[in-house]
Amino acid sequence: MTEPLILTEIHGDGERRTALIRINRPKQLNALNDALMVEMGQALIAFDRDDAIGCIVITGNEKAFAAGADIAAMAKYDYMHVHQTEYITRNWETLLQVRKPVIAAVAGFALGGGCELAMMCDFIIAADNAKFGQPEIKLGVIPGAGGTQRLPRAVGKSKTMDLVLTGRMMDATEAERAGLVSRIVAADKLIDEALSAAAIICGLSGPSVALAKACVNKSFEGGLRDGIDYERRIFHSLFATEDQKEGMDAFLSKRAPQFKQR
Ligand code: HXC
Repeated sequence: MTEPLILTEIHGDGERRTALIRINRPKQLNALNDALMVEMGQALIAFDRDDAIGCIVITGNEKAFAAGADIAAMAKYDYMHVHQTEYITRNWETLLQVRKPVIAAVAGFALGGGCELAMMCDFIIAADNAKFGQPEIKLGVIPGAGGTQRLPRAVGKSKTMDLVLTGRMMDATEAERAGLVSRIVAADKLIDEALSAAAIICGLSGPSVALAKACVNKSFEGGLRDGIDYERRIFHSLFATEDQKEGMDAFLSKRAPQFKQR
C-alpha cells in the first residue's frame, strides 16, 4: 500500500477550526513532487471553501519541512517539458489562490522549493532546528518557485544574494533576525504554537482577516502608492460589514465580540 503524500487533520473546538496539512514523504525528506503538489492544492482549495475552517497550517516533520522540489523527478525533465507543461505554475501556485490565512510551521530543512513553499504562506513559525536555503545553484539551476523574488522582499538583497549565490543554509536565529520568520519556538512546541496562532485567527472576523491578508500581499507584491490606495478602499468597504459594527460596539461596551462572519 502506498503512503498518502499529505496527511490532513482538523483542530480546535470553536465554530471555525484549523486545517493542518502535513507533508508526508519522510524517506525523501519531504521532497515535493508533482502528485504531492496536486493533492496539496486540492486540499487547500477544499479548506478555503469550507465555512467551518478559519485558518490553514502547513507543516512537515521534525527533520524536514521540505528539502526542495523532487530532484529525482526534475533530473529527467528537459526544457520543452518544463515549458510546455508549465512546471511549477500549474500546481504550486494554487496556494496563492487561498484567501484564508496559511501558516507555515517549519522544522528541519526548508530548502529550495521547500523554502519557496514556506514563503508562499502568509507567515512562517520556525522550530529552533529549522534550516532555510536556496541551494539550487549547486544543481546548476536557480530558484524557480519565487525564491529570487520573495526572499529579497523578506530579507533584503545582500542576504538573498549570499544565500542564492552560495547555496548555504541559514538557521532559525539568522532567519528570524533577517525577517523571514515571525517567531522561533522549541521544536517540540512547534505545532502547538502554530495551532494557537491559528485558533486566534479562527476566532476573528473571517472577512476582515481575508481582506487584511489581501492588503499585506498587495504591499509585499506591489508598489507603495497602489498598495495604500488598495488598503484605503478595503478599509472603507469593511464599514459595510456587521462584524465592524459588532467589533467596535463590543469594544466600547467592554465585552467580547460575537462575530457573525459577515
Ligand atoms: C529528492 C531528496 C531531496 C530532494 C533529499 N532527498 N532531498 N530527494 N529531492 N530535494 C533524499 C535523498 O536523496 C536521500 O534519499 C534521502 O532524501 C535522505 O537525504 P540525505 O541526503 O541522505 O540526508 P542528509 O545527509 O541528512 O542531507 C540532508 C540534505 C540533503 C542536506 C537536505 O538531502 C540535500 O542537500 N538535499 C537536496 C537539497 C536541495 O538541493 N534542494 C533544492 C532542490 S531544487 P536516499 O534514497 O539516498 O535515502 C529545487 C528547485 C526549486 O527545489 C525550483 C522549483 C520549485
